Amino acid sequence: MKFSAYNQSDKQQIKKLFESVFSESEALGEGILIAGLVIDLMNTTKDQDIFGFVARDKDKIIGCIFFTRLSFNTPIEAFILSPVAVDTKYQRKGIGQKLINYGLGVLKKNGVQLAFTYGDPHYYSKVGFSSIDEDVVKAPHYLTQPEGCCANH
Ligand SMILES: CC(C)(COP(=O)(O)OP(=O)(O)OC[C@H]1O[C@@H](n2cnc3c(N)ncnc32)[C@H](O)[C@@H]1OP(=O)(O)O)[C@@H](O)C(=O)NCCC(=O)NCCS
Repeated sequence: MKFSAYNQSDKQQIKKLFESVFSESEALGEGILIAGLVIDLMNTTKDQDIFGFVARDKDKIIGCIFFTRLSFNTPIEAFILSPVAVDTKYQRKGIGQKLINYGLGVLKKNGVQLAFTYGDPHYYSKVGFSSIDEDVVKAPHYLTQPEGCCANH
């Protein structure tokens, strides 16, 4: 298993990974939607505003995560982790946690002080995130499940 930043040549494999993982975990429409979002993120985000990391088993991409920049009124380096996918056949083997920890390590080396995410606090607490109240940091959009807002610093 190897972890690294993604390359331009990985884009199609990454798109397929998100499409299949979210089609299986949610629904076909969701898989297509998330895969489209991921392609847009890779194609339209400035290099300084995005980090993407992949896990490879030989040449096959089996996991992928993205962090994109969040801007606040104060000068702080903050990124949001989303989305995250691990190939269905490789899930529950610790790959998601290893990949997130790898990504957080690279962010820290690049001076990023804060990472946020929005998801299952039980899962994200395994990689150092804890729930954060909207009184502390206001989410950029209305959240149906505000308890899913987590921070890592
Ligand atoms: C969520 C996901 C990235 C986790 O990756 P993973 O490599 O399977 O996770 P790990 O093996 O590192 O960690 C395992 C833990 O994650 C949690 N977990 C994994 N899959 C889960 C799922 N489908 N539902 C709830 N919790 C899950 C559990 O707490 C599990 O621990 P346990 O086996 O002791 O109960 C992966 O399951 C996935 O791609 N799911 C579909 C897409 C998704 O929901 N992405 C997150 C939102 S963007």
